[in-house]
Amino acid sequence: MAKISDAVISEILSKTDIVDLISEKVSLSKKGKSYFGLCPFHNEKTPSFSVEPERKIFNCFSCGEKGNAIGFLQKTENLSFVEAVENLADRANVSIDFSKYKKDNPNKKLLEINQAASDFYKLYLNSTKHGVVAKEYLKNRGISDEVIDKFDIGLSPNDFDLLYKTLTEKGNLVSDLHDLGLVKQGKEENFYDLFRERIIFPIINEHGNVVGFSGRTYIDKKDGSPKYINSPQTKVFIKSNVLYNMNNAINEIKKNNRVVLFEGYMDVIAAYRANVKESVASMGTSLTLDQVRLIKKYTNNITICYDGDPAGVEATERAIKLFEKANMEIKIVLLPDKLDPDDYLKKYSAVDLNKFINNSWIDKIEFAYRKSNMNIDFTKMLDIEHFKKIIFDLIKNSSNTIIESYINRLSEDTKVSVESIRQDFNQYTKRNIRNLRTRNIQKVKIDRKYSVAERNLVNYYLKDFKYVKTFNNEFGEMFHINQMVRDIKMIIEDLHYKNLETSKESIILEEDLLKKMNPDQLHFYDNRVKYKMAELDDKEYRDLLGVIQDYQIYLVIKKLEDEIKDAPTMLEKIKLAEYRDVKIKEAKYGQR
Ligand code: GTP
Ligand code: MN
Repeated sequence: MAKISDAVISEILSKTDIVDLISEKVSLSKKGKSYFGLCPFHNEKTPSFSVEPERKIFNCFSCGEKGNAIGFLQKTENLSFVEAVENLADRANVSIDFSKYKKDNPNKKLLEINQAASDFYKLYLNSTKHGVVAKEYLKNRGISDEVIDKFDIGLSPNDFDLLYKTLTEKGNLVSDLHDLGLVKQGKEENFYDLFRERIIFPIINEHGNVVGFSGRTYIDKKDGSPKYINSPQTKVFIKSNVLYNMNNAINEIKKNNRVVLFEGYMDVIAAYRANVKESVASMGTSLTLDQVRLIKKYTNNITICYDGDPAGVEATERAIKLFEKANMEIKIVLLPDKLDPDDYLKKYSAVDLNKFINNSWIDKIEFAYRKSNMNIDFTKMLDIEHFKKIIFDLIKNSSNTIIESYINRLSEDTKVSVESIRQDFNQYTKRNIRNLRTRNIQKVKIDRKYSVAERNLVNYYLKDFKYVKTFNNEFGEMFHINQMVRDIKMIIEDLHYKNLETSKESIILEEDLLKKMNPDQLHFYDNRVKYKMAELDDKEYRDLLGVIQDYQIYLVIKKLEDEIKDAPTMLEKIKLAEYRDVKIKEAKYGQR
């Protein structure tokens, strides 16, 4: 496989407008020479993601993701390096034949065998007398030939090793069949098929490759074997990365800009029959972050439609948390009477299922309200108090309309007057805000200001050793807010003194520092220090030291506060408080 030359890559990068490219996914606003926005690689509320058009890079100060246009495409669209370069070349109208740069999928052979197995199962369903019986079962469940074809449904024979024989006769290696979980080895070293006498649902990934299978019983087996058996995890079937029906759903997802997520195969098929085609299933196991990422590649809108039974409701709650982490817009469909979508369709109709999914969805607050409502005993005071707090937490950041409507509902459900509930709510949020102020805002904000100052000092240390000396004189060598900064400062000191041993002048090179740092320090330096590089400015340096000085005072104040709390007499409390107030006045920079 040939390599793309550096010259070609630079040409393509130079013809790429990185701001345009990233703007397709992140809304950016210009500040100075850079652009800022919410980082697409982690969940955040204030922008720490920047794009620098001059250097043609992006960088997130917060999570550390960074790179150029190629890296951005690789990460956001899940492309290989060559694919990302090809994509950029297309955009920039650079015409190059990329085929010689692409390596064959190492799993190509395995995927071909899976495809052959799928074809075998399909043929068996459509052209044997066993197939007629299985089709009768499917028809009874409302699954037509058109649907069978759409989902590539097949049938595994009621036979010990027909698949094994068929595929090995065609020259496929037993070891490959074994690795794919299609055959198992018996006691006599013979091989037999994993799927026997089951309706087969091939599991096909978003690239259209058959990665695994699930087989459902369709006649009573009486041997207690499970309803479904699945291919094991294999090289090509990483279960946590796959969603059932992603292959068919992709175009529909793009068209409708949403995904509807179900628990099972039959639910996806029911949804298809109800003309909800942007549907996928997590296949009965709990949803994973990788599956969430897979969905988020195509849309930000998710509708969760799990079974209406208690297990489904629990699974919905877990799924909501994962989608929240990915900052997605979440809708929830709670089917009535503990039905699953397939039951619902059978009981009512395809049109009704469509209407229910499209019109009867609820939001996260409503879901949480209903879910807590299910488990609460309204005759118990403690239950009511607990319920109220859950709901208050959910609505506290919402609009007045929403707050009022939930206060009214709470009043109806708990049989407490609207006025009392409203009062409780106001008190609850006030207390919360107070707590937040004293606990979070003070601590986090003030601490941040100090540590930002300390981090900025590293830029000075590296440029001129006199800044290290001044710092050490004022605060002592070991003083630090962040251990990482102290350690980097110590490396710089080492370098300085080593340099002095070999020459009269010490010039500390950044590359030397980079070599000496461990991975954690490097990460910290790259993300927390380097890009904040300011021009050297003695006045700013003094200001930074001033902030550090304030930090020392802040520590004293904190200690005094504790002493005040513990002081045995009022008089002592007052004395300590006076002393504390003097100290507060001394702090110049922290208050700004
Ligand atoms: P039907 O029972 O045919 O309507 O299928 P379903 O898809 O509605 O099944 P159900 O709601 O019981 O389960 C949801 C999903 O969980 C299924 O689609 C399977 O992916 C998975 N599942 C259910 N039962 C089993 C089982 O016995 N073994 C395994 N491995 N998975 C199962
Ligand atoms: Mn079902």
